[in-house]
Amino acid sequence: MFRPAGPLRGSVRVPGDKSITQRALILAGLCVRPVRILSPLWAGDTEATAAMLESMGVTLDRADDRRHDVLVGGRGLRGLEPPDGVLDARNSATAMRLLAAVCAGQQGHYRFDGDVSLRTRPMDRIVEPLRAMGARITARDDKYAPLEIDGGPLRPVRYRLPVASAQVKSAVLLAGLFAVGETTVEEGIPSRDHMERMMRAAGVPVHSAEGAITVTGVSRLQLDEVHVPGDISSAAFLVAAAALVPGSDLSIADVGLNPTRTGFLEVVQRMGGDLSWVVDAEIGGEPRGTVRVRHAPLTGTHVSAGQIPNLVDEVALVALLGCYADGETVVEGVGELRVKESDRLAAIGEVINGLGGDAAVAADSFVIRPRPLRGGVVDSGGDHRLAMLGAVAGLIAAEGVAVAGFSAAGVSFPGFNDVLQEVLS
Ligand code: S3P
Repeated sequence: MFRPAGPLRGSVRVPGDKSITQRALILAGLCVRPVRILSPLWAGDTEATAAMLESMGVTLDRADDRRHDVLVGGRGLRGLEPPDGVLDARNSATAMRLLAAVCAGQQGHYRFDGDVSLRTRPMDRIVEPLRAMGARITARDDKYAPLEIDGGPLRPVRYRLPVASAQVKSAVLLAGLFAVGETTVEEGIPSRDHMERMMRAAGVPVHSAEGAITVTGVSRLQLDEVHVPGDISSAAFLVAAAALVPGSDLSIADVGLNPTRTGFLEVVQRMGGDLSWVVDAEIGGEPRGTVRVRHAPLTGTHVSAGQIPNLVDEVALVALLGCYADGETVVEGVGELRVKESDRLAAIGEVINGLGGDAAVAADSFVIRPRPLRGGVVDSGGDHRLAMLGAVAGLIAAEGVAVAGFSAAGVSFPGFNDVLQEVLS
């Protein structure tokens, strides 16, 4: 049970960035020389990627220290071995979509599957561009996992993303490594660019201009160390809690501050939140620094479709803040949330209204009218971000919130409750 408590004070760190860890494991697995990954995230999703890579012959030597650094022994760009069994991406769409693109450029047969949630998530969004590149790939009902892939030569493509998705962009760019010549992805709305930054660090020619990202096929990759910053999407739950709980003054250090990920921080500021951040280093092309947030009265805001990719994993938190803001909060262009680990758009309405708030959800948008939450029960439905949303809501809902399926938080933020209790005491 999460009950009104607080304030949140002090300085904390959060576990490593999920998107960056996923990409680091995958690119390191394709390098020739061993790559050390420092402060990676070890959680459900990244464990899935690590296990998939290991079953294809990549070695992982994990340090026995607090940061859980890992030394990855890669197989070279085309050296992955087809596994004996199925590649199980568990709950991770990033693992499935990115590794499917990599396997399309290898030799041999690869079969991908995942858990009940992942089996409902659209894979046609990668099947289509990969086929255009010559990949031999089939999907259940041409849309869902399981996927069957016969690796082989790929050709370059120019592909316009039909949905704003960093996963699809990254999949096409990864496949582009295996094609001779230039592969270009056009994106209408910019999404997180960790793949582009890490590919550059690995010596790949990557050119980004006016919404078009071009990668040139290579014969080898070499990364030096990858330093993984804290995950801004995990930090966001603490930021929201501190913004909401009176008297809070919280700093989160060593967190990733890539400008394609700071959308939520900008929205909190726009709502009147007393929030600032400073970049104090850039390592491997990724800026990192400290975020400081103090409780302050909030006002409603309007978030338009063009801003969504930069806060796609934080949208539910905007809804929660809206319950305690002065005036309406309108969020548009969030249809993609329907194909996350749950139908997260429907869940936002169910959670907020179920706890006594006022949310009106439409096909691709929602409106929150301010009304303090009474409290109740939130069922995560296995969605890690809903589990943490419930916990944060419990800190301000009059009667507190019980979260059914709270353990799902471990998919991206192991130790979330410990960090929360640390800053509350
Ligand atoms: C991710 C991209 C986003 C995000 C997910 C991680 C990534 O998904 O929701 O948590 O690592 O590329 P989409 O690309 O499907 O929007």
